[in-house]
Amino acid sequence: MKKRAAGGIVRAVRLTMFVMPLLLAACDRQGDSPALASAQAATATQSSAQSAQAVQAAAQHAGASVPVAAPAAAHGGGQTRAEVYASVRKMTAVGKLMFFDKSLSGSGKLACATCHSPDHAFGPPNALAVQLGGADMHEQGMRAVPSLKYLQSVPQFTAHFHESDDDGDESIDAGPTGGLTWDGRVDHGSDQARIPLLSSFEMASTPQKVATAVRAAPYADAFRDAFGEHVFESDLATFNAVLKAFETFEQTPELFYPYSSKYDAYLAGKTQLTAAELHGLQLFNDEKKGNCASCHVSERTRSGAPPQFSDFGLIAIGVPRNRSLAVNRDPKFHDLGACGPERTDLKGRDEYCGIFRTPTLRNVALRKTFFHNGIYHSLDEVVRFYAQRDTNPAKFYPVAHGKVQKFDDLPQQYWANLNTDPPFDRKPGDQPALDEAEIKDVVAFLNTLTDGYQPEAQH
Ligand code: HEC
Ligand code: HEC
Repeated sequence: MKKRAAGGIVRAVRLTMFVMPLLLAACDRQGDSPALASAQAATATQSSAQSAQAVQAAAQHAGASVPVAAPAAAHGGGQTRAEVYASVRKMTAVGKLMFFDKSLSGSGKLACATCHSPDHAFGPPNALAVQLGGADMHEQGMRAVPSLKYLQSVPQFTAHFHESDDDGDESIDAGPTGGLTWDGRVDHGSDQARIPLLSSFEMASTPQKVATAVRAAPYADAFRDAFGEHVFESDLATFNAVLKAFETFEQTPELFYPYSSKYDAYLAGKTQLTAAELHGLQLFNDEKKGNCASCHVSERTRSGAPPQFSDFGLIAIGVPRNRSLAVNRDPKFHDLGACGPERTDLKGRDEYCGIFRTPTLRNVALRKTFFHNGIYHSLDEVVRFYAQRDTNPAKFYPVAHGKVQKFDDLPQQYWANLNTDPPFDRKPGDQPALDEAEIKDVVAFLNTLTDGYQPEAQH
């Protein structure tokens, strides 16, 4: 059985990826001491060299050994800190333009931002369970679009996660944790960006088409300026630079991890929660009630870092089958998360079937579609599922011949993987963990996690 330290949190393990923009932010905000500056320069240089290795590794994944158009910064050694930062800024700027560029898609109609809407915390702009894409824009994906915010502290995927001594009990194996996408199958934003660009049901493009589009784009000169004059010499070099630009853009702190919610203001002592929000927070944390915080961490770490509202564990909670999805017309098809079919390295490993990465709940109130298959469309429904899944399963799963088909999207041989911690520790007839009024308060609390809160505007 999987165990999680109460209130524990995963620290930002992916420092190599994220140190540069963080340093940029820190130094923009605080000005710098010379000693700090030189330490930062050393770290930044090292980090960009590592990023260059990551790009190289990504290229090797693609089965080709190519000259990688690494950013000038990646050459390390001879670069000043200012040059490293300038290079990151340039990559971020082109990454942003590309994020909105539909010409990178096979259909010419789909940009990253079409699915990852900036007005919805870079999550889906509508209530569709899954978005449409592909060459003709009629192909349906099989998973809900996740928010791209607060991914900076998702650790790389590991089957056995141990918290740092700082933040929890190091001796506890928290089980499979981390990685990007719902099943944790990639570790870097660059590898991730390859997926939608090339997927037949998303942007349906090819490295060649993407490279051609970038060379013809209004930002082609800026792109060359960011990645060096050789970047257009081969399609693959261009494509790898594109992936790198997306990864760099996704680490812009003010866009992707501003920590500007009402709850952050509350933690900083700058505002108060209403009675309903505060009660919701208590229920969210209470191990005998919602117990939500055991997975969706709500407290600062011991070292003072703000909560991410996820410990990034991969967990099976038995989300009902979404019968409106095209893939699910085949009764034998199941999206089993970490054991496949999208993820292939853990195929056949039964203990990984049915598990999906715990999403952050920051900005969750901006969504209109929830869980990996987009089955629910309101937070009330989601919280009710947690509270009553076991006490009243007929409310959530189909009933055939008078029998509830509980866990209808997870074949029975994998049921041992299902989480059984509260609120999933009950049976029909038991009292639900939360009543209707309590569900309302938990939802009120979830509404405090939306970025962009302005204390003076509210009374
Ligand atoms: C057709 C809709 C669609 C488009 C277009 C799209 N994505 Fe996504 N994105 C998704 C879905 C769905 C997932 C979840 C995939 C999964 O779990 O298998 C996802 C996942 C991600 C993730 C991982 C998030 C997480 O929680 O780990 C990142 C990062 C990402 N997309 C970036 C991009 C970038 C960059 C682009 C443009 C190059 C892009 N996406 C284009 C639908 C889309
Ligand atoms: C045992 C770990 C665990 C506990 C406890 C838990 N969650 Fe979750 N939560 C998850 C996982 C895993 C998912 C994704 C499941 C999936 O899609 O298959 C999730 C998804 C969600 C989502 C959907 C977010 C999105 O972007 O689609 C919401 C909302 C949510 N949880 C709220 C809560 C609340 C409220 C509680 C307490 C009542 C709670 N969770 C308790 C692990 C947990």
